[in-house]
Amino acid sequence: MKNTPVPSQIVKEKIKESGLNAVGNASIREIKKLVDTIEQASGVEFIRMEMGIPGLPPSKIGVDAQVEALRKGVAAKYPDIQGIPELKQEISNFVKNFMNINVSPSSCLPTVGSMQGGFASFLTLSRIHKDRDTTLFIDPGFPVHMQQHKVLDLKFESFDVYDFRGEKLREKLESYFSKGHIHSVLYSNPNNPSWICFTEKELQIIGELANKYDIVIMEDLAYFGMDFRKDFSQAGKPPYQHSVANFTNNYILFISSSKAFSYAGERIGMMVISDALFNRHFPDLKRYYSNDLFGHTMVFGTLYPLSSGTSHSAQFALAAMLKAANNGSFNFVEAVKIYGKKAALMKKLFLKHGFKIVYDKDEEEPIADGFYFTYSYPGFSGVELLEKMIYYGISAISLDITGSERHEGIRACTSLIRMDQMEALEERLKRFDADHKA
Ligand SMILES: Cc1ncc(COP(=O)(O)O)c(C=O)c1O
Repeated sequence: MKNTPVPSQIVKEKIKESGLNAVGNASIREIKKLVDTIEQASGVEFIRMEMGIPGLPPSKIGVDAQVEALRKGVAAKYPDIQGIPELKQEISNFVKNFMNINVSPSSCLPTVGSMQGGFASFLTLSRIHKDRDTTLFIDPGFPVHMQQHKVLDLKFESFDVYDFRGEKLREKLESYFSKGHIHSVLYSNPNNPSWICFTEKELQIIGELANKYDIVIMEDLAYFGMDFRKDFSQAGKPPYQHSVANFTNNYILFISSSKAFSYAGERIGMMVISDALFNRHFPDLKRYYSNDLFGHTMVFGTLYPLSSGTSHSAQFALAAMLKAANNGSFNFVEAVKIYGKKAALMKKLFLKHGFKIVYDKDEEEPIADGFYFTYSYPGFSGVELLEKMIYYGISAISLDITGSERHEGIRACTSLIRMDQMEALEERLKRFDADHKA
């Protein structure tokens, strides 16, 4: 081992103490813990790219509204499970203003983060058809969704979309749908971890097939509006956030407040169910629930026993932020554009020093700069590369844990790196390249 920016003796010792078999295969939280201990022992500050947490302060509009709601005493009262009326109305306005879709307030629900929205949807959707038992993930994806399926003992299948972009997506999806066992599909857009965004053509293919095979599409918009190649920030004006909702009425949208509104700590997200799905009867639901109406079941059958609704005060915070976005006084996209600026700089540095971007295109167009990007270095698997880069004071996660078949890849998150660390990043990448160049 060469003389590395973090003393190799310390790294080796801490990896051994961590008990991890392969650092590169560790979960996000395990890597975080390992890097915390190495930083402490070595005194070297890492370039932290492993965790997808917002790196910005929360919106003052949200905090003020939440404090005011708490002062008024909402903490003492159970919130309605379906959400407070002000919030439901603002969510409905928000999807109209920023997606140009019509959903009535009753079909707009607050959840304890998008995380709960996913959990509740997986649980409910797995029971709508007694003869269909499988979710299809269009991967790469958010590892926790896989974990949620595992703890619920639900079946899922997945494929890496890398080789099935554009028209090729149709045949690939049909190869699953035509077997008749898929009840729903999940993907994130923009995608965590790869930051690819489906094109309108791809969303249309997904929507058309959802109609043809009667499959519910779960579109996870955790990074709403953050494809910065287009300006989705103007309420009521095109361009609008692209969505499968333009092509099918068979959808559930998860809109997180964690990244777009930097409100991760309060655990509040939005579940938007199309009115058609919300009001649809599924007789097979009666096996588990007292009602066969999808929306009613989601609220009183699933969300009720999970958490009896979402934090009362956080609902006022989100309602206030959405109201400000809806009336044009708060440009929530502008507030997070810094992630895109950092990604552009970082990608340039990685490319300059011998690295490659793994998921690099949306059909013909280069991917956007945003919250994540993926990289590789010739001759290494992602798992090996991740561990090697720890010695250079750079931490991230391997794509192996995201359902990706690009085993050479690593995911970098741009949120925590500071502009004043870019020089250190370049220095470390340069040293890595010099030490490993073929
Ligand atoms: C794709 C995706 N979905 C869902 C979530 C969870 O969002 P929330 O914080 O609203 O639970 C995340 C968070 O990182 C994510 O990346």
